[in-house]
Amino acid sequence: MPETKSIFNRVAEHYDLLNTLLSFGTDKSWRRRLAEEIRSSNLVLDIATGTAEVAIEVVKRWNGCFAIGIDPSKQMLDLAHTKLETAGVKKKIDLVEGVAESLPFKDGTYDAITIAFGIRNTVDPLTSLKEMNRVLKPGGRVGILEFAVPRNRLFAPLYMSYIRNMFPFLGSFFGKRNEYKYLVDSIPMFPQRESFIKLMEEAGFTVKKPIELTMGTVIIYVGVKED
Ligand SMILES: C[S@@+](CC[C@H](N)C(=O)[O-])C[C@H]1O[C@@H](n2cnc3c(N)ncnc32)[C@H](O)[C@@H]1O
Repeated sequence: MPETKSIFNRVAEHYDLLNTLLSFGTDKSWRRRLAEEIRSSNLVLDIATGTAEVAIEVVKRWNGCFAIGIDPSKQMLDLAHTKLETAGVKKKIDLVEGVAESLPFKDGTYDAITIAFGIRNTVDPLTSLKEMNRVLKPGGRVGILEFAVPRNRLFAPLYMSYIRNMFPFLGSFFGKRNEYKYLVDSIPMFPQRESFIKLMEEAGFTVKKPIELTMGTVIIYVGVKED
């Protein structure tokens, strides 16, 4: 697997624009739904925060909430800092450099955790999930948003062919064809639905029924750390 941190350093500049184009603008509503699902108004950790899109949705949705965004890509975090100012939420979000596999926080620190389009890019998803469980408070929720191959047998090949062609094609306008090819090729290879739920359970979560969005092209998995 290529070093995903360096991939994201390379795609950072056009990342938000490409996301919006590829999802026809629906990506914002997916993140809003993720923020909704964590049901938390206190201290929230957004892992693989990228340009802080989810962290911003979280603090806007939950009054009095403070969020920490963590990501290994300095380029993404630089863009995130600018975005926090523009969104007027600089005082409600801190950004730190780091990876999901080794979170630099004490046990039981957070009321909730979000991670959007990030777990697939971690080197070790199970270790990352265990780390999330460790830093969550008992009773806390994790919300994980990730791409999926749709279940519908007619729609799935059409959709997969669309993203297999469009991701690298749009990426090529910015000289990032290979990076976007990797990002789309990794979707069917990553554990989905039942197999991902098993990983979450192995990490210690009680998992709710997954929420399938936009015809099953993305899924929100919600896990609870039991008291
Ligand atoms: C597809 S972006 C998602 C960004 C953001 N969450 C969003 O919704 O737009 C994936 C992010 O995962 C980060 N990443 C890569 N490897 C990681 C790791 N091991 N731990 C945490 N984040 C990682 C990348 O730097 C990148 O910013």
